[in-house]
Order: sequence, then structure tokens, then C-alpha cells
Amino acid sequence: MLGGAETDSGRPPRHLAVIMDGNGRWAKNRLMPREIGHRRGAENLRTLCVLCRERNIRYLTVYAFSTENWKRPATEVGALMALFPRFFKKYMDELEEEGIRLRFAGDRSELPKDVVKTMEEAEESSKSRQMLDLIIAFNYGSRREITAAARSLAKKVSDGILHIEDITEDAFTGCLYLPDIPDPDLIIRTGGEMRLSNFLLWQAAYAEFYSTDCLWPDFGAAELDAALDDFRKRQRRFGEICQ
Ligand code: FPP
Repeated sequence: MLGGAETDSGRPPRHLAVIMDGNGRWAKNRLMPREIGHRRGAENLRTLCVLCRERNIRYLTVYAFSTENWKRPATEVGALMALFPRFFKKYMDELEEEGIRLRFAGDRSELPKDVVKTMEEAEESSKSRQMLDLIIAFNYGSRREITAAARSLAKKVSDGILHIEDITEDAFTGCLYLPDIPDPDLIIRTGGEMRLSNFLLWQAAYAEFYSTDCLWPDFGAAELDAALDDFRKRQRRFGEICQ
């Protein structure tokens, strides 16, 4: 066990979410193309999975491709799409050994067929694993997720199968991409920015936010443990008063 999160009094977050920012800058600093930064970023995701397993974190959500990322140059978008099936092929056995279940959040309708096929196969083949759920937000945007949930509830009302009074927070959550996943306890953003960028806006209502200047490919055990130490010191009141 590399980390110390379990040995101290505070518990590690049950659900950690990460905005993996800084791949481009990492590559630029080394006079390399941005695609190399993304490739190193994908390798680092594998490392993070192992670190989370060791620290008894049960759910890990990562922001791999946003609904806004299509605005990037076609070569970069193509490289990110190609990285996806390559990653699963390369780490399929290791993910199985680690007991990692794969889930995906996002709009699949715009994705290339081979990417969707890879997602479906990964979900199906890993669904009985129970050590860590790795949730990859891919072509994900919170506003799109929330809009789709609103539309789905509106349709149920117009079809006469739901009363307006039955539109509750729970009913709304039930229409999100992965309603069974608990809300994130901690959201880490690498690369120094201090914003959510359309990530888990509904689910983040009571999440603790942690930003680090560390660029994503350099984010390792020491940086994760610093974030977990900081998380342990936070007082989570969920709207109540301090005891
Ligand atoms: C943001 O850094 C990062 C992304 C838009 C892509 C994140 C993707 C990965 C880490 C790969 C994940 C791979 C798989 C297989 C799930 P940036 O490019 O905006 O960096 P910059 O701010 O330095 O330009």
C-alpha cells in the first residue's frame, strides 16, 4: 500500500472525480505534439486506477472528452478517439486483474462506431467486477445530461405516465446517465484552473473541490495523497451547522 489515506482518522472519498487537465501544456513544455501529452495522460489514468484501488476509493470518474472538445483541431480529436480503443486493448487484462468495472457517461450518438463498440464490450465484459468502478466521461457535458433528463421527464408527463408532482430530485437523478453511482465526494482538477467546465454540475452539489497546478501526466501518488489529505481536513456539513 503506497498511500496513507486509510490509516488516518478520516475516510478516503468513496467517489473521486478528476478533470485531467494539462496534457497539452505538458507536451508543449517538452516541444512535443499535444497528442503525445494525451497519450501520456492515458497512461497516467492507468496509474491513477491502481492508486485508487490501493486507497480503497470505490468509484473514480474521469473527464476524458467533453461535448465542447469537438471544437479542437480535427487531428487532435482524431488522436483522442483513436487513443480510446487502444487503451482498452492494451490494459484489458490488467483491468480485469485489478477487478475494475468500466462505465461510460456521455452522449454516444455522435461517437464513431468503433468507439461505441469498444465501450459496449468493455461495459459488458467488466460488469461483474467490484473493486473499482472506473467511469469515463466521454463526449460528456453536464448541460446536455441535464437537458436530456428534463426531456425524458417531460415526455413521461406528456405520455401520462408521470404526474408533475412526481418530478422530485430523486426522479431527476434517475434520468441521468448513471443514476446508481453515488455523487462525487471530491473533485480534483489538475492544470491549475478553478472551474468545473460543464462536469458533473448536478452531482457536484456537495462535492469538495481541489485544484492543483500539477499537469495531468505528472499527477502521481504524492499529488493524489496531498489532495486526499486536504479532503480529510475539510468539514463537510451538507447544509447543516457545525457540531
Ligand atoms: C485536457 O488537457 C485533457 C483532455 C481534453 C483529454 C483528456 C484525455 C486523457 C487524459 C486521455 C484519456 C484516455 C482514455 C483512453 C480514457 P488539455 O489538452 O486541455 O491540456 P492543456 O490545457 O494543457 O492544453
